[in-house]
Amino acid sequence: MALKITVIGTGYLGATHAAAMAELGFEVLGLDVVPEKIEMLQRGEVPMYEPGLAELLRRHVAGIEGSTGRLRFTTSYEEAGAFGDVHFVCVNTPQKHGEYACDMSYVDSAFDALAPHLTRPTLVVGKSTVPVGSAARLAERLAAAAPAGPAAELAWNPEFLREGFAVQDTLHPDRIVVGVAGEKAEELLREVYAKPIAEGSPFIVMDYPTAELVKTSANSFLATKISFINAMAEVCEAADGDVVKLAEAIGHDERIGKKFLRAGIGFGGGCLPKDLRAFMARAGELGADQALTFLREIDSINMRRRGHMVELARDAVGGGFLGKRVAVLGATFKPDSDDVRDSPALNVAGQIHLQGGQVTVYDPKGMENARRLFPTLGYADTALEAVRGADVVLHLTEWREFRELDPAALAEVTAERRILDGRNALDPQLWRKAGWTYRALGRPRA
Ligand code: UGA
Repeated sequence: MALKITVIGTGYLGATHAAAMAELGFEVLGLDVVPEKIEMLQRGEVPMYEPGLAELLRRHVAGIEGSTGRLRFTTSYEEAGAFGDVHFVCVNTPQKHGEYACDMSYVDSAFDALAPHLTRPTLVVGKSTVPVGSAARLAERLAAAAPAGPAAELAWNPEFLREGFAVQDTLHPDRIVVGVAGEKAEELLREVYAKPIAEGSPFIVMDYPTAELVKTSANSFLATKISFINAMAEVCEAADGDVVKLAEAIGHDERIGKKFLRAGIGFGGGCLPKDLRAFMARAGELGADQALTFLREIDSINMRRRGHMVELARDAVGGGFLGKRVAVLGATFKPDSDDVRDSPALNVAGQIHLQGGQVTVYDPKGMENARRLFPTLGYADTALEAVRGADVVLHLTEWREFRELDPAALAEVTAERRILDGRNALDPQLWRKAGWTYRALGRPRA
């Protein structure tokens, strides 16, 4: 009999995982405590913008014409407990308010709500990013609260999906990491991931703490790479060097690699910043804080980028924002997403607004979320409208649409032809040829 799978928490991670499990051929039940989310998913609609996800859902959600019917949703833990052989926990672990540490309350309550309904041998698989040591604690809690006792086992299986590529990353993971305490759990997970394993995804088995650490160390490494190149951008600016050329040249060394060396206003989003901080907090609790003090520097290099962008914009408009119009292209933390959580672009826009600038933001997909978070900023329906009458244009999220803009057309409507490229993604020659003053972080003024 094919395994039946539940996915608890249908946010970014959970909705994608549920759809992917159905695509792999399993019967899947997705659970969320927010009824509106469940209603949307049941209609085959996705609560966020993620390329390909709505299509994948509609291919499997029961009740949708032509679907396989393998994917259903519920708000009932009782139903989930009765249904699933394997339960994936995909709830979020945000940063605690006013602290670096991660807030485990959603994970804890998911386990507490599920456990009483586990009456037969089952595997619960944690996917959320958690502080190391959580899995061991949760395994005990699970065995104590489940009627099945120790037959309700736990595995930890961190997720490495990137927003914007979530479907691809989930269906064809570059590695599958599983932290287990016994062979049964490993066997079940090999069954769940049989298809990607057959396609060549490495399946790496380890203990709980290592699996938890793989996730936080991977994100810390990525953040370190970005802050490294941004630190080089600072030095390049001081020395009149060009960080884009520098990144290209060091990237040819295979040990360094080209990826994640785009200098700009830095990293944001719902993962990298909070994962770094939670990792530092946890290392402190374990008495290993010295090992991660460098992450404090990674975080502050990153946050400094935002302030620096604001300074460059202030200089560009003559030393003060009062009475100046600033066009902001981009609101999301990265392109191909509508996610504005800890978005460097919106942070810069907000700072300029607070300093008296009249800011108008345009983003291809993030407008609704941006408006909700920063209702006092101005918003325009197109890039051209955002730029109308602007004293300076800021390019802060590297959407393809912005690379395809015609600098000559924008020059017609803007007050001043000044553009600051916060993502080093536009073609300087093109803009300069159309009469713009182009400046970018870590590059010569020329
Ligand atoms: C990140 C990781 O890349 C995923 O592997 C991980 O699974 C995920 O967090 C998570 O923990 O859930 P994501 O937050 O979607 O994924 O975004 P990234 O593509 O990593 O980008 C993060 C930020 O870094 C963005 O703001 C992006 O603009 C910035 N960035 C990225 C740069 O500033 N420069 C670069 O060269 C690359």
